[in-house]
Amino acid sequence: MSSFPDVPMFAGVNAPSRIEADVNDLEVSGEIPREIDGAFYRVAADHQFPPRFRDDVPFNGDGLVSMFRFHHGQVSLKSRYVKTDRFLAERAAGRALFGRYRNKWTDDPQVAGMNRNIANTNVLIHHGVLLALREDSPPVALDPVTLETLGNWDFHGTLPGPTCSAHCKIDPRTGNLVGFGYAAKGDFSRDVVYFEVSPQGRVIHSAWFELPYFEMQHDCGITEHHICFPVVPIMGAGEAGLKAGLAFYGWDPQREIYLGVLPRFGRGDQIRWFTAPNQFTSHVMNAHDDGDRVRFDTCVAAGNLFPFFPEFGKPFDPSGAAVRLTRWSVNLESRASGFEEVETLSSFIGEFPRTDDRYQSRPYRHGWLLGFTGARNQLGHVDLKSGETEVWTAPQTCPVLEPCFIPRASDAPEGDGWIAQALTNSETMLSELNLFEATRIAAGPIATVKVPLRLKPAYHGSWAEAARVKPTGLPAREAT
Ligand SMILES: [Fe+2]
Repeated sequence: MSSFPDVPMFAGVNAPSRIEADVNDLEVSGEIPREIDGAFYRVAADHQFPPRFRDDVPFNGDGLVSMFRFHHGQVSLKSRYVKTDRFLAERAAGRALFGRYRNKWTDDPQVAGMNRNIANTNVLIHHGVLLALREDSPPVALDPVTLETLGNWDFHGTLPGPTCSAHCKIDPRTGNLVGFGYAAKGDFSRDVVYFEVSPQGRVIHSAWFELPYFEMQHDCGITEHHICFPVVPIMGAGEAGLKAGLAFYGWDPQREIYLGVLPRFGRGDQIRWFTAPNQFTSHVMNAHDDGDRVRFDTCVAAGNLFPFFPEFGKPFDPSGAAVRLTRWSVNLESRASGFEEVETLSSFIGEFPRTDDRYQSRPYRHGWLLGFTGARNQLGHVDLKSGETEVWTAPQTCPVLEPCFIPRASDAPEGDGWIAQALTNSETMLSELNLFEATRIAAGPIATVKVPLRLKPAYHGSWAEAARVKPTGLPAREAT
């Protein structure tokens, strides 16, 4: 019998769960509004087997997708592992074969050259399939109803590179999936390919460009006419560094940052780079065009926010980790190389920003964030019209996760709906899903869905209304 190492990433609420579940009609306190009809999908990194290295980073675990299906005031739960090539190879072997995060030189030689994808960072529906995404690999498709894995997914042979970001956006005007892949000519290459996937699931445009330097290109923002790339120095160790045992990434507290602005459906050489002093950002709230200007809203900190990727050879320095929603404005008509304006949009310290996704790429009013204040976790609602931020603070024992907006109806006004937010109660060691009125979160949850097991904390997720929660009819990769 194998056992997981006694390290923080496998302790307490972060202990492996590994449960593929089907639970009908979950117990609810409060009342689930009957108008809610659809599915909240989320994905966690939940190691199938103990890792080969006890000091690896947490997000090297296998993708385990959960679906909370809301219908007629009831909620059911289904969870399934993504049956990646790697998952199936390890299951056949009965142990971990793949080594450290993005370090193929630490793998068992029997899997040399095999796809290392674990599809564990985000899930969203597009062109009828549920895409499980991780930025170092192509997508993996799942059936939106059964969560069975259909297989690796290259948009019918049209994916232009070897990777696809976990933070692809859906353009609410066109229905296109707007994505990109970085390290697109191999690990540590500066090459990025941006692409647009039609609602029919084929890439209809792509453009290649190079980053100013290689870094973790985790997220992007889209406007009606542009795609924006924040470039911050979460630098690569390089092949020699990996072979010497360094982590894949490390923070550089000196190097300048950039915002790249590329016309959508443009050429790669049309990208415009704006620069600013060293600072940190990872997740993007939204962006929009404003005449000649692009407004780009992202969560910014003075220093590194990633304890798992400190400066190479140094301990993590948390002193600059207070992160706040910030608007970077750049002027496309100006010849200036810097940002035109920087505005802190809320004093709330928070990350994992989300919007009413019908307003992605557009001027918007409402945003939600996961907050951190000492040991207490919070949900924050930022109202950009009133300038107010309202906050709900979780009970001491409940680390909470990324919020997700559910519209009251497809034609409801912006922000009219609910926020779903999962948490794990560290006293009961069971998970819960809270529902809030989206613009009255300080009043607390209107309903709490009780999960009779502990789900591993997820990274990202998305909402799909019932009309999109349909079977594909495609054969599953392997029955489970
Ligand atoms: Fe992310």
